[in-house]
Amino acid sequence: MATRLSGQRWNADEGEGKGGRWRSLWRVYFGPMTTEFDYTRIPELPASVYVAPLRKPAGLGDDWLEPAQRRYSAGEHRIWDDLYARQIELMPGHACREFMHGLERLDLGRGGVPDFHEISEELRSLTGWSVVPVPMLIPDHVFYYHLANRRFPAGNFIRSREQFDYIQEPDVFHDVFGHVPLLTDPVFADYMAAYGRAGWKALKYNRLKALSALYWYTVEFGLILEDDALRIYGAGILSGPTETVFSIEGRSPHRIHLAVDRVMRTDYTISDLQATYFVIESFRELFHLTEQRGFEPIYESLAPGFQYAKTAALDTDHIYHRGTQEYELRGGRGSGARPV
Ligand SMILES: [Fe+2]
Repeated sequence: MATRLSGQRWNADEGEGKGGRWRSLWRVYFGPMTTEFDYTRIPELPASVYVAPLRKPAGLGDDWLEPAQRRYSAGEHRIWDDLYARQIELMPGHACREFMHGLERLDLGRGGVPDFHEISEELRSLTGWSVVPVPMLIPDHVFYYHLANRRFPAGNFIRSREQFDYIQEPDVFHDVFGHVPLLTDPVFADYMAAYGRAGWKALKYNRLKALSALYWYTVEFGLILEDDALRIYGAGILSGPTETVFSIEGRSPHRIHLAVDRVMRTDYTISDLQATYFVIESFRELFHLTEQRGFEPIYESLAPGFQYAKTAALDTDHIYHRGTQEYELRGGRGSGARPV
């Protein structure tokens, strides 16, 4: 595995002449060059770059952080407990082992919404990460700034009973149950910080959508091979029961080995089950394929917008399971199709 990966790294730099060769050597011996941007400041948003026009609640600074975690009512703590109880049952046989270790380590089922200070203290000692409260979805460039500095912005609110089964905006259950356990894994924790740093480059090349697709198909909806069995590491899957089963057992979706260039060209579904899941062999592979390869050559070769439909299966894909796409073709959630 190591040989194939380092081979890819050299190939990616071929044709760049001496400078490319030197950059490769630098990366091999000292890690990626990261002096180009100042990651301690919120990146500037170039005038050419479009981001969703989110309205910042009054009283928050440019970092969008709330001064403290909310105090939840007894009813809200019970919503956490009920969500946790439903989801934890499904984890064995579905979630990857690093996620299971993280869940145990952080003891997220001790009762009620976990305290951000307590889990941050534990995380800091393991991988240098912390969890910070935000009121809602935050702009991409601010999100990158926090990730690059090993802070995970987590929604401060929890869904209501009416939204128990489905919520579009990430709440504290999605963010803490879904995302935080993997931040205890050193390799995944490094990938997340590298992803944040990659945001600066995406802004520079105006390729935010491409980087978002990579985030979507890894951090939110990624699958991993574990002893030849598929397991889940994506938080968007792990925080809900339907997709936990559908992503692993459903006959509809494709399951395809992750190739970064391909994924960054692929459209995705925002408010329904995915038509395709991308599979990695290990977090180390994911880290090598992204951070150590560098994103510039990819951004330079990408056209704006997406090239592949979310249902596409290409001749060049390494396909583990070619899905029937019947859930998608019947119209998905809006049509009442069964997620099979
Ligand atoms: Fe998420």
